[in-house]
Amino acid sequence: MTFRRLETANANGARALVRVDFNVPMQDGKVTDDTRLRAALPTVEMLRGQGAKVVLLAHFDRPKGKRVPEMSLRPIVEPLSALLGAPVAFADDCVGAAAKAAIDALPAGGVILLENTRFHAGEEKNDPGLAKEMAALGDMYVNDAFSAAHRAHVSTEALAHLLPAYAGKQMEQELDALEAALGSPKRPVLGIVGGSKVSSKIDLLKNLVTKLDKLAIGGGMANTFLYAQGYDVGASYCEKDLAETAREIVRLAGQNNCKLFLPIDIIVAERLAPGAPARVRGLGEVDEDERILDAGPETVHRLGRAMANSATLIWNGPLGVFEVPPFDKGTVGAAHLAAVHARAGKLIAVAGGGDTVAALNHAGVVDDFTFVSTAGGAFLEWMEGKPLPGVEALKRSA
Ligand code: 3PG
Repeated sequence: MTFRRLETANANGARALVRVDFNVPMQDGKVTDDTRLRAALPTVEMLRGQGAKVVLLAHFDRPKGKRVPEMSLRPIVEPLSALLGAPVAFADDCVGAAAKAAIDALPAGGVILLENTRFHAGEEKNDPGLAKEMAALGDMYVNDAFSAAHRAHVSTEALAHLLPAYAGKQMEQELDALEAALGSPKRPVLGIVGGSKVSSKIDLLKNLVTKLDKLAIGGGMANTFLYAQGYDVGASYCEKDLAETAREIVRLAGQNNCKLFLPIDIIVAERLAPGAPARVRGLGEVDEDERILDAGPETVHRLGRAMANSATLIWNGPLGVFEVPPFDKGTVGAAHLAAVHARAGKLIAVAGGGDTVAALNHAGVVDDFTFVSTAGGAFLEWMEGKPLPGVEALKRSA
């Protein structure tokens, strides 16, 4: 994929506006998962090393154009500074005279975080006036927030048209990994799509069946597919009104030579609770008061064989209710199998999407995967085949 890489920039002495994604889980003003902070470090360190002033732009939560004190980025300063091993300044606005003065006061290699871009209504409207004001604070723009690239906002899109624009290291890694998984992948390519709702993944499934050689469907959404094939799913979560859509996806897969894997056995229980008694059932053996909560052992075993016969795996969504053991077994089992093949260098294993990362963390295999995206919504839109405005803007200036 063609986009401007940071290596080609001369950042010496420049004020680099760097869009990062610091939309991190936070509890009582404390960051509870710093994955996204760590993801920003390579770019920040590279620019500092070149003597740039690093001006970090980010959003937090959805304040909808108003100043919401609980959505301030200020609590990020301390953990970021600890990770960097260097001071991080803070300005309580992302535009204006005070921000400019704070940036002017930075030494070469200094780092400053500006307050939540979404405190300005113009940010989400991609407002040209706000874009001009923000651009005035920098000499170059670096987008390192792949996970916010599905938004056409001032700090993710407009700035790329006003300043020399580059992809940051995290953005670059994401784009290279995703290109390797779906753009021009090593075949055969296997997809795993799980999660509860078919309704939120219709576009994604329709796109994937045209690109993949094999696609395994798991999680609650598999219930809808099983129901659509005529199986009784008892008291399971199931979007019965989407049965025809499920059948259409099965037809599309057939037309595109994409082999579909639906569960061949399942785990059921009468209630969803930690340690609830769980039973393995064949398809069509679900009692009316039972719920399907995970993939069965045969299904996982067959998935392992499909991985062994594939060169690339792309995974989004858990196979069961992994947050509530023992219904995590299917997801954890499949994750371990993927990890074995990836570690052996036989499988390029790429995963992404909010729940997926949590599930792979739970299975303890994140480091074994070839690449795990930091993105939630952006990863899904990319899997749907949609152009991401933040990425398109970088391509244009390549
Ligand atoms: C994310 O957490 O997925 C990104 O930061 C985007 O956040 P948003 O959905 O509020 O735009």
